[in-house]
Amino acid sequence: MRNRIEVLHGVNLDMLERRPSEHYGRLSLTELEVRVNGFAHELGLETSFSQTNHEGEFCELLHRAPEVADGLLLNPGAWTHYSYAIRDALEVAGLPAVEVHLSAVDEREDWRSESVIRDLCVGTVSGKGVDGYREALSILKERLA
Ligand code: DQA
Repeated sequence: MRNRIEVLHGVNLDMLERRPSEHYGRLSLTELEVRVNGFAHELGLETSFSQTNHEGEFCELLHRAPEVADGLLLNPGAWTHYSYAIRDALEVAGLPAVEVHLSAVDEREDWRSESVIRDLCVGTVSGKGVDGYREALSILKERLA
């Protein structure tokens, strides 16, 4: 059964509770991960979580992902908008991935509308806060069935 989802949080996501609550809500990353773990449990999925502020480390997590996961839930933070290194590493991972953003990236500054990973992903969810992670997990569940 393919049900292992690796959730990767990128740069500045560890500072969630210190970032503007109108975009990111009031949960800390730890609280968010507890919620996401609950969603996954309801859907019969298993999760593992990592966060890093180092782009190369994020790439290495993607390189290793096929050894530990069947699908990826990615919130690379600002790297989403410009990191071709992460894009290439996602291609190396070769796993079904969903891009998720807490905030409505398409309704904010123009530069946030660009995603260099979007076309490699099987779905994108943004602007739905923590509930967006549930939707992203559902997309992955369907994809892995
Ligand atoms: C984010 C949106 C990005 O534009 C931003 O740089 C983040 C978080 C989100 O979850 O809404 O760090 O990915």
